[in-house]
Amino acid sequence: MSVLAIHDLVAQAGPARLVDGVSFSVRAGRTLGLVGESGSGKSVTCLSVLGLPPRGVQVSSGRILFDGDDLRTKTPAELNALRGREIGMILQDPMTSLNPLLTIGRQITEMFRYRDGVTSRKEREARAIELLRRVHIPAPESRLKSYPHQFSGGMRQRVAIAMNLACNPRLLIADEPTTALDITVRLQILDLLREVQAERGTAIVLVTHDLHLVRRYCDDVAVMYAGRIIEQGPVADVFARPRHPYTKGLIGAVPRLRHSQHRLTVISGQPPLPGSIAQGCRFAPRCPRVQADCASVYPVTRSVDMHRSVACWHPEPDQQTADALPATAAS
Ligand SMILES: Nc1ncnc2c1ncn2[C@@H]1O[C@H](COP(=O)(O)OP(=O)(O)OP(=O)(O)O)[C@@H](O)[C@H]1O
Ligand SMILES: [Mg+2]
Repeated sequence: MSVLAIHDLVAQAGPARLVDGVSFSVRAGRTLGLVGESGSGKSVTCLSVLGLPPRGVQVSSGRILFDGDDLRTKTPAELNALRGREIGMILQDPMTSLNPLLTIGRQITEMFRYRDGVTSRKEREARAIELLRRVHIPAPESRLKSYPHQFSGGMRQRVAIAMNLACNPRLLIADEPTTALDITVRLQILDLLREVQAERGTAIVLVTHDLHLVRRYCDDVAVMYAGRIIEQGPVADVFARPRHPYTKGLIGAVPRLRHSQHRLTVISGQPPLPGSIAQGCRFAPRCPRVQADCASVYPVTRSVDMHRSVACWHPEPDQQTADALPATAAS
């Protein structure tokens, strides 16, 4: 059974649907990559799943099943108890998961005290140091006394990751967890996440704009465009034979992104703003395969293979693309 199964999730800011009917699921021990251009709704999706939609945004419909139980029916206190134990989260802005008023050491040791009932202060500190060492924080003994603002963005993110690792969550939602880190640390951290995943069978949702990371760490991929998932399936299949012209464009654009931190904006044109969305396919104005009917009705999501789906009236032919992502190391 899936650890997380989302059905038809809609999240709105007033009338604007920022997330518009998103469905996906992740089984134990598997990693789903969630990709798409800036503003496509990846973070709003993740935050909605966690029961923490951004200010002014509401989940208006859909089901969010965690071990078959709908998180939307939980009280805030129940959700709070799940987060930080069963459900880990590494958010795009690590400051949101750390308390600015408490030292790093205090935040970690309190977690060991209250959550794990470790009574000895020495032991809590030893565990905290070990944890910081695992995420490659230099001189962890002296770092325990620092406050979050005394850390760089990358170090704060590593602390947030360390605290999540200590929870051994069943589900981990990681929104661009390593973007602020340099490439070596990035790979080390993701390897570490994978180790923890293997021990506990954690289901992971990994949001990233780096398709090399998707190929290296994810089993499945869901591609978002303007609040919807336009293509979904096993990474190897989707990368070898993208069926949605948008997916094909993203993958084709990757070699040029290899040495940079750009966002995925290399397909010419801009995605529509939420609320300004017309009835037809949202990608139609930018699509190289657009036809007259694309502008009138939004394409239904169709299965194109056992585990694959695509929302496109005129998908790419089912054949290996010449410009599929080259098999070199992650960027
Ligand atoms: N609190 C909010 N109120 C209104 N609109 C919002 C709010 N937060 C986000 N949005 C809008 O929702 C859409 C999706 O935003 P989201 O942050 O989920 O994008 P994203 O895919 O995570 O982008 P990025 O790759 O830049 O992180 C954007 O158009 C954004 O402007
Ligand atoms: Mg985001």
